[in-house]
Amino acid sequence: MVNNRKVAVVGCGFVGSSSAFALMQSGLFSEMVLIDVDRARAEGEALDIAHGTPFATPMKIYAGDYADAADAAIIVVTAGAAQKPGETRLDLVNKNVRIFQGIIPQIRDSGFEGILLIVSNPVDVLTYAAIKMSGLPEGHVIGSGTVLDSARLQEALGAHLGVDPRDVEAYVIGEHGDSELAVWSSADVAGVPLKDFCEMRGHFDHEEAERRIAEDVKNAAYEIIDRKHATYYGIAMSVKRLCTAIMRDEKCILPISALMVGEYGISDVAISMPTIVGRDGVECRVPISLDEEELAELHRSAKALRDVIDGIEVEL
Ligand code: NAI
Ligand code: LAC
Repeated sequence: MVNNRKVAVVGCGFVGSSSAFALMQSGLFSEMVLIDVDRARAEGEALDIAHGTPFATPMKIYAGDYADAADAAIIVVTAGAAQKPGETRLDLVNKNVRIFQGIIPQIRDSGFEGILLIVSNPVDVLTYAAIKMSGLPEGHVIGSGTVLDSARLQEALGAHLGVDPRDVEAYVIGEHGDSELAVWSSADVAGVPLKDFCEMRGHFDHEEAERRIAEDVKNAAYEIIDRKHATYYGIAMSVKRLCTAIMRDEKCILPISALMVGEYGISDVAISMPTIVGRDGVECRVPISLDEEELAELHRSAKALRDVIDGIEVEL
């Protein structure tokens, strides 16, 4: 029986603890289980975050194990190695797939029936691996994907145009990584096509602005990791947004990573595209229009991920 007031976070490092802190303030849950192979870390984070609850809402937060998470509505998985400066997300694949081989079967064997939200990188490959390992319905296993990248794009465009980033409708799709792509052809601000809005705000060199902004978004993690060794606040807010969408059955549209089953002619790989997200995770994929070059880039991104999956050293 799923407890709709309970969440679990596996991995209590920078990302997991920041996500737990964001979720404690969300009011979505009254119970949170923190799981980490470093039990002392889980205990310390639980104590620290619990001391903030008098300023938020009452919550039971404790270090536990997979049996404690079995009835959670959502399990967020942030366990695994993170990129070192100069490493790509895909460089982490074999190390983190092995870590997942120690985590996902324990979640499966606990009888968990909720939504599995994958954050660890490479998130698309690990989402695919979790789908294969968990035995859960495919749509119940989702990855944060390019939700964070799309937020970075919105923030950059909001600054460029002098508007609230929440009014910018623009998606990054594909791999959460070096082969991702910004979908310029269908981007708009309050329904005004992006190019028209740019000209309204005095910007006319669209090609250069799009190239620069897309590059900055794609390289954001490297820039941050070079300076502070990890990224965690943007992804923590993305985790909070995704948990809110699920727990409130919002049916909002977010570019999550999930199994492709023929959309854009792509199958058997997990990759990000706009998706209606609700209580059951994936409700429906939304194939926004892409121009010819964007579709080709998305196919290149899907192939890069499929090649990585095919090259994984262990059986999924
Ligand atoms: P971290 O090293 O601070 O934390 C990782 C935690 O996982 C540690 O506490 C470690 O003890 C724990 N862990 C390792 N193996 C485990 C296991 N078998 N069971 C339970 N816990 C285990 O790393 P950080 O910075 O928190 O990053 C975690 C992951 O999140 C990395 O893969 C990183 O690339 C990814 N990430 C993904 C983002 C996204 O947008 N999808 C954004 C930022 C980070
Ligand atoms: C990011 C990396 C770490 O912050 O996935 O996008």
